[in-house]
Amino acid sequence: MKYLSVAEVAKKWNLNERRVRVLLSENRIEGAIYKNHRYLIPETATKPLDRRVKGQRLFEDSPLKKTDIDFKNYRKMYPTPDGYFGRFGGSFLPPNLQKAFDEIYTGYLTIAKSAKFIAELREIRKNYQGRPTPIYHCQNLSNYYGKVQIYLKREDLNHGGAHKLNNAMGQALLAKYLGKKKLIAETGAGSHGSAVAMAAAYFGLECDIYMGEVDMEKQAANVARMRVLGARVIPVSFGSKTLKEAVDAAFENYAKEYKTAFYCLGSAVGPHPYPLIVRDFQEIIGREAKQQYLEMTGELPDIVCACVGGGSNAIGMFEAFLEEPVNIVGVEPMGKGQEIGNNAATITLGKEQVLHGFNSLVLQNKDGTPATAYSIASGLDYPGVGPEHAFLHEVGRVQYESVTDDEAAEAFFMLSKLEGIIPAIESAHALAYAIRCSRTMKSGSILVNLSGRGDKDLDFMIEKYPQYLKQ
Ligand SMILES: Cc1ncc(COP(=O)(O)O)c(C=O)c1O
Repeated sequence: MKYLSVAEVAKKWNLNERRVRVLLSENRIEGAIYKNHRYLIPETATKPLDRRVKGQRLFEDSPLKKTDIDFKNYRKMYPTPDGYFGRFGGSFLPPNLQKAFDEIYTGYLTIAKSAKFIAELREIRKNYQGRPTPIYHCQNLSNYYGKVQIYLKREDLNHGGAHKLNNAMGQALLAKYLGKKKLIAETGAGSHGSAVAMAAAYFGLECDIYMGEVDMEKQAANVARMRVLGARVIPVSFGSKTLKEAVDAAFENYAKEYKTAFYCLGSAVGPHPYPLIVRDFQEIIGREAKQQYLEMTGELPDIVCACVGGGSNAIGMFEAFLEEPVNIVGVEPMGKGQEIGNNAATITLGKEQVLHGFNSLVLQNKDGTPATAYSIASGLDYPGVGPEHAFLHEVGRVQYESVTDDEAAEAFFMLSKLEGIIPAIESAHALAYAIRCSRTMKSGSILVNLSGRGDKDLDFMIEKYPQYLKQ
């Protein structure tokens, strides 16, 4: 990649050098590095929007606390029309892509709110996806670990085996209404890629899925699934060859094809309006779960939890509980340990930065560049996180905890053995937190979003953790 000096960039963007240095100190120039006492800025970097212009909100030392927010009306207030959750979110895109995203937002507000669209999506959810998915009381697991009662929201029983289809079918239906011919998507674990491939088959659209080579090897079963479903799986072979680079590659290609293609983003991340769209399509999880749990037990759970990669299953689960007297916990992957490069615990360890066109928390190297994320779960190893999670953390409404690879592995095998349910290794992170609570709390109930099933992880987990198998 070709790099430019501060002086060259200042000239190119028509700014003074001091302003460029301020932008660098705020980590707002994507891909910039500090080497031999000088900044180097990728020639391809885009000029950050000035946050002082209309619509670019920033409350630097946010005085907001959860007590200031009316969670009954929260959805109407956040995101703002320009895509902000407090200071997180927004849209930092080159003008041609901004036009494409504006078209998606307008389309979303008009088409996806129409009675016809809603009725069609409801029909798909019932007859194609198999919703509502049930909730289940894990009596064996609860008895084994202690006095806390563990319940699962069974998103693994969604057609395709993960929550991702809730969003993929919604976005693909929108693409159809917008007259697009192709779906483009990134994928980490292959769950979102498979969901988009299913949606493309259902709607008769072409489908290109970008996937890092490391993930393709680890999640070979999902690669085969996408291909059988008719999608083109395009290997991404630069950088860490995982989800971040898959997003980079998918974005780059979408920029060339946006007139005829629709970008199906798989998590509650990305420039506005994606965090909003993904949240809206995933909200069904929490709405169903709240009603089902009340019907099953007559009360609300003490804790609701979900794993957080980009944050789509978690935000889908949490939204209906924000206004209730329930503890909400997002569970991040601490991987092999606290050191940067060994985990993907973005909220726990990240700093504010613009990455992939939105402002949120990002894992950073010492020089301020986005760090390589790691997790045993391909679907969780992203160095950023959805802006709504960064906001809910900041205002203190949601608590974010982390579990290691090994804790997730224990949960993976114990749920399989004690309940006959093999969880996705991503979802096993949320379950590991429930197991931790079972060891420390005397009583209580915890509702875990089991975001997906673990067939895709079998080979990898057997090879890595043979000690859990009977010899
Ligand atoms: C089963 C499953 N759960 C969770 C995730 C994490 O994504 P998100 O945080 O968007 O729910 C993934 C990502 O691929 C996944 O496959």
